[in-house]
Amino acid sequence: MRIAVAGKGGAGKTTIAATLARVYARMGRRVNAVDDDPNPNLSVALGVPEEVRTHLRRVPREQIMEERLDAAGNATLHLTRPFGDVIAEYGARGPDDISVLTMTGLLGAGKG
Ligand SMILES: Nc1ncnc2c1ncn2[C@@H]1O[C@H](COP(=O)(O)OP(=O)(O)OP(=O)(O)O)[C@@H](O)[C@H]1O
Ligand SMILES: [Mg+2]
Repeated sequence: MRIAVAGKGGAGKTTIAATLARVYARMGRRVNAVDDDPNPNLSVALGVPEEVRTHLRRVPREQIMEERLDAAGNATLHLTRPFGDVIAEYGARGPDDISVLTMTGLLGAGKG
């Protein structure tokens, strides 16, 4: 099951997403929490300790995803590596054994 939480700024998306993740994990589900907010803070809401959060690295989409076209010409995105590898390299483990990935954030200072 995949659940995406989107909507207006400040509406409670992160709070709801983190709460759902923790509840499902405690029900025995394996939960992968993926933060795609330009200002990522899902790991904080999940209760991931600061010393663990420092290991989170922005996932470089261009290196781990590729676009494929089906016979009808529709484009879909696919991981080029096993999901477990991506979590091990860029993610972190949080409370209730939730794994966390951050897809966004600054890569460095730029012009303008
Ligand atoms: N049900 C609720 N009742 C009262 N306050 C809430 C509720 N849900 C979230 N909040 C509070 O509202 C604020 C915004 O919540 P949250 O950060 O989850 O929103 P968001 O939609 O993720 O925001 P952003 O668009 O900035 O990412 C936080 O201070 C949060 O604690
Ligand atoms: Mg948010």
